Amino acid sequence: MCQLYSKRDTLALRGKHIGPSCKVFFAADPMKIVRAQGQYVFDEQGEHYLDCINNVAHVGHCHPEVVRAALRQMEVLNTNSRFLHDNIVEYAKRLSATLPEKLSVCYFTNSGSEANDLALRLARQFKGHQDVITLEHAYHGHLSSLIEISPYKFRKGKDVKKEFVHVAPVPDTYRGKYREDHPDPASVYAEEVKKIIEEAHKGGRKIAAFIAESMQSCGGQIIPPAGYFQKVAEYVHGAGGVFIADEVQVGFGRVGKHFWSFQMYGEDFVPDIVTMGKPMGNGHPMACVVTTKEIAEAFSSSGMEYFNTFGGNPVSCAVGLAVLDIIENEGLQGNATKVGNYLTELLNKQKAKHPLIGDIRGVGLFIGIDLVKDRQQRTPATAEAQHIIYKMKEKRVLLSADGPHRNVLKIKPPMCFTEEDAEFMVDQLDGILTVLEEALGGKTASVISENTPCKTEVPREAQLELPSGGTADSRESSSKKRNAACADKHSLLSKRLKT
Ligand SMILES: Cc1ncc(COP(=O)(O)O)c(C=O)c1O
Repeated sequence: MCQLYSKRDTLALRGKHIGPSCKVFFAADPMKIVRAQGQYVFDEQGEHYLDCINNVAHVGHCHPEVVRAALRQMEVLNTNSRFLHDNIVEYAKRLSATLPEKLSVCYFTNSGSEANDLALRLARQFKGHQDVITLEHAYHGHLSSLIEISPYKFRKGKDVKKEFVHVAPVPDTYRGKYREDHPDPASVYAEEVKKIIEEAHKGGRKIAAFIAESMQSCGGQIIPPAGYFQKVAEYVHGAGGVFIADEVQVGFGRVGKHFWSFQMYGEDFVPDIVTMGKPMGNGHPMACVVTTKEIAEAFSSSGMEYFNTFGGNPVSCAVGLAVLDIIENEGLQGNATKVGNYLTELLNKQKAKHPLIGDIRGVGLFIGIDLVKDRQQRTPATAEAQHIIYKMKEKRVLLSADGPHRNVLKIKPPMCFTEEDAEFMVDQLDGILTVLEEALGGKTASVISENTPCKTEVPREAQLELPSGGTADSRESSSKKRNAACADKHSLLSKRLKT
């Protein structure tokens, strides 16, 4: 494949011309990706990597039908939504059909951040209230209005919490305030929201919205306990606020049984506003806010027009329609359930074998592996997690670590992920954990050291000192043997590429 620059020159140019806060993945050893297909990405040397984290390439990287849909529409017309066009109405009709009946009015945007920003405007216009309740560790986007309600970001920077923002405890029953041994975690976590509302009212403040991801992703793959959202919605509605479900990461069938993650909690829970993005256009910038007629009418009653130059353009909608067709035609929701269950089963076997694994949680193809230094205290194994993702990259598997302690391995692959991919991923992880745990002598000590067991350069936080002097690599022969199978890229790829 023809490239403009060598990897080194690309890196140098990036250093010179791209803002330093735009971080690269695997900063200590960045990857140059030149093409992708299905659940694989290929670097500049032609090496393929199994992509376990890209929930944007939802139906598979560069799916030919998505590409064709974009191309066909680009050849004919692309313009803004001020003209009548069938694509936007057809897409809105198809999208609404996936949602509960009352969610029927769409606003198209170009990113999840734009969608959440608009959702806040809708919520604030609805009753004229201003305050927002958000969850600890939440991330809802990069616009100023969203950094303000994203503790994942504002707690890391110098920003202080704004007075109109209220942060509720994350309903995490593994490491949170109330855990799995509590008889009713849903109620006690929801009570925390109720207390926040009461406190706000005492201070003369009024709640416009409660916003949460249906499952928290950046916050560490957290699944709220059943019944929590229903109770929160009741308290928020009682205060005149609306419930915004952020489905930017977890929507479009990723959880398998349901098209939207919020639907997992039961038919008696329906948000007032749903925001979506990432997988919607399979990589094409496309996002949306869907709400009720009542909220939409309140928004237009202000008299202010809403116009978005690119949102809902004919090309984006053609792409979106192709994505919906593929999810259906290729049975990707069923695949998410089948492969997700199988992967969870394999991972639970790993949990029984490896003390570093504290918790496996997830639904469909949205799974988290919570790594701990000790299972009793649940102390996050941050350095170990960083070490593992770099080692997995050496084994040609892309994973990332997130959560407030960056110790949760996130798995959210393209939906064409197969059982074979799951086995391959878990085999590599098993090999790495075995070597790491042996090297740490079961102590899982994490002392920053120059003596890195990785072949690649790793960030300081990922450097582990191995107590017994041997390098992790010297004990990896079995894992290397397994990996040798990877050498025959073509046979492996032809078996695994599904889309
Ligand atoms: C839950 C959630 N909401 C919103 C956003 C913002 O989406 P975008 O990056 O498309 O603006 C993100 C991005 O990572 C996200 O994870």
